[in-house]
Amino acid sequence: MSCLQKRVKNVAVLISGGGTNLQALLDFEAKGGLKGGKIALVVSSKSDAYGLVRAQNAGVKTAVVTKKGVELSQFEASLLSLLKENEIDAVVLAGFLVILSPEFVANFKNKIINIHPSLLPSFGGEGFYGLRVHQAVVDSGVKVTGATAHIVSGEVDRGEILVQKAVEVKEDDTPQSLQLRVMQEAEWVILPEALNLILSKD
Ligand code: GRF
Repeated sequence: MSCLQKRVKNVAVLISGGGTNLQALLDFEAKGGLKGGKIALVVSSKSDAYGLVRAQNAGVKTAVVTKKGVELSQFEASLLSLLKENEIDAVVLAGFLVILSPEFVANFKNKIINIHPSLLPSFGGEGFYGLRVHQAVVDSGVKVTGATAHIVSGEVDRGEILVQKAVEVKEDDTPQSLQLRVMQEAEWVILPEALNLILSKD
């Protein structure tokens, strides 16, 4: 490899559930959309997460690091050694339900991104996850919501915003119908874009 050629960066996607955002990333990569990186590892905090099946179907290596009954420091130590063993350069939190400590995040400065299902800083922070976010949006009466892809910093949902996309809130929306539209119209679109943004930086 000449010194002008850049090494392909290894990306790990961290999940806890269904993995539709992971699927969007895998599809994006399969279409040749991912620039300068490859999804090298999928880690789930839950052994029964369907996202693991999605990864296996795409031929991507998987691992489970259980959070249940384990101290955060121990969980993070196991996760960190796994990421190091696999020479991971960038990390995507895609429906990952563990809040990582500032100490852990410091190991991958500006190289961890998260997808959040609202237009941050609105409807974000601790306690705003899953359907709770969309319930709060519906209850508030706002007419526009969306999704935000951002850098993960030491503070929940407060890192630098990379990409946002707005989604209309309809009169008859339920938290469930809104969740689906936000995923389809915003999350699955902007998360791959945000990954390319961090991969393009040294
Ligand atoms: C998404 O709504 C994402 O914004 C949030 O958790 C959900 C995960 O869905 N952080 P999936 O596992 O990617 O299907």
